[in-house]
Amino acid sequence: MSAPPSDTRWEATEHTLAKIAILRAYLQAWFAILGRAVATDMLYIDGFAGPGIYQDGQEGSPVIAVKAACEARARAGEEWKAKIIRMIFVELDKKRFGSLQSHLKKFETLPGLKIQLVNDEFAPTFSTVKQQHKDAFISSMPFFAFLDPFGVKGVPFQTVRDMLASQRSEVFLLLDADGMERIRKAGVAAGHQRVLDTAFGSAVWSEISFPGDAKSNARKLLAAYRQQLRQAAGVKFTFPFEMRRNNGVASYHLLFATNHIKGLEKMKEAMQKVDKNFIFTDGKTGQNFMFATDEPAVLARDAEDYFNMQCSGRERSYDDLKAWILQETPYTRAEKILNAIKGRKGIASVTIGGKVMEVGNKPIQWEQTGKIIFRDQLQPPEKGLFE
Ligand SMILES: C[S@@+](CC[C@H](N)C(=O)[O-])C[C@H]1O[C@@H](n2cnc3c(N)ncnc32)[C@H](O)[C@@H]1O
Repeated sequence: MSAPPSDTRWEATEHTLAKIAILRAYLQAWFAILGRAVATDMLYIDGFAGPGIYQDGQEGSPVIAVKAACEARARAGEEWKAKIIRMIFVELDKKRFGSLQSHLKKFETLPGLKIQLVNDEFAPTFSTVKQQHKDAFISSMPFFAFLDPFGVKGVPFQTVRDMLASQRSEVFLLLDADGMERIRKAGVAAGHQRVLDTAFGSAVWSEISFPGDAKSNARKLLAAYRQQLRQAAGVKFTFPFEMRRNNGVASYHLLFATNHIKGLEKMKEAMQKVDKNFIFTDGKTGQNFMFATDEPAVLARDAEDYFNMQCSGRERSYDDLKAWILQETPYTRAEKILNAIKGRKGIASVTIGGKVMEVGNKPIQWEQTGKIIFRDQLQPPEKGLFE
């Protein structure tokens, strides 16, 4: 990530626009689905809100989020169940905060919406928010946090862990893994120990072996952060990805954490909608994500790889396998992979409602299956598939 701008507003790079497009697509789904499903308030926090608008007039993340909320509510009509949508925007810089205020003013009086603006640091502000909205961090209220800092500082792991305490919490974080690597490399001069201990919530980062180049080291830090989310914060699903220009080196690491598998599905769908000038990689190896997976040959190759890695000769639960596919592969639909494996006679039987069923040629409703019993090997693909 390049040096943070000093102006009140700055130009939106293509990365920025793509990031915002993902946020918009995801929030449209988040508000629409949960607004129809819960009879509580909904809570949204943008911890690094910015000025509300970019230099060239593009809308910033707060405006995008407010519009997504209003549109979802209007579209749902009578089906809308949620009470108040509470939206909190935190911005430290005074001038940017002033700009943000003016850009959100017209939304302040909309029915069903309560907007709160805070001119302060995100982490201490969150402690207050937690006190004010206890429900959101115990169980019942849907909560989504968008954290988009400049660089590494300002997002203590402790705060992220607190945010993810409930089953209905989700965090979408721009993680500056490249910046973490630079600070680690700079050592004492950059106060690396304090900065990274705060970001990771412990010294786990110092246990990693870093023989690689800066890029691979950054990916290792991203993987370690993801591990922390799972182990120290108890998050069920995490999805890291690197967003890179087709032609360039510059990249963003985005990390999504949720306790709900549907959240993960929707986030991947949101990514797929974004500009095709971007390449998504898996955030671990840097291998490209191929979202255009309707190609039969690509699907067949991937299904074979996943079969060998995760399935061959094993009995797996559908839920586990689906979670693995969503978190570790570019695919959004587990059924696609399972149908490809089934087509090559890789599945002996499945259980449905506790009963074992032989797998024949008939389609299977995978969502209804409990266990899937895999054969040791796949039959060869249809002739010509890999030609
Ligand atoms: C990357 S920009 C956010 C852009 C915004 N999310 C958007 O997409 O429109 C980061 C913002 O965080 C603000 N900031 C920096 N440190 C902060 C902190 N500790 N707490 C809250 N805001 C902070 C900066 O002034 C800057 O406006």
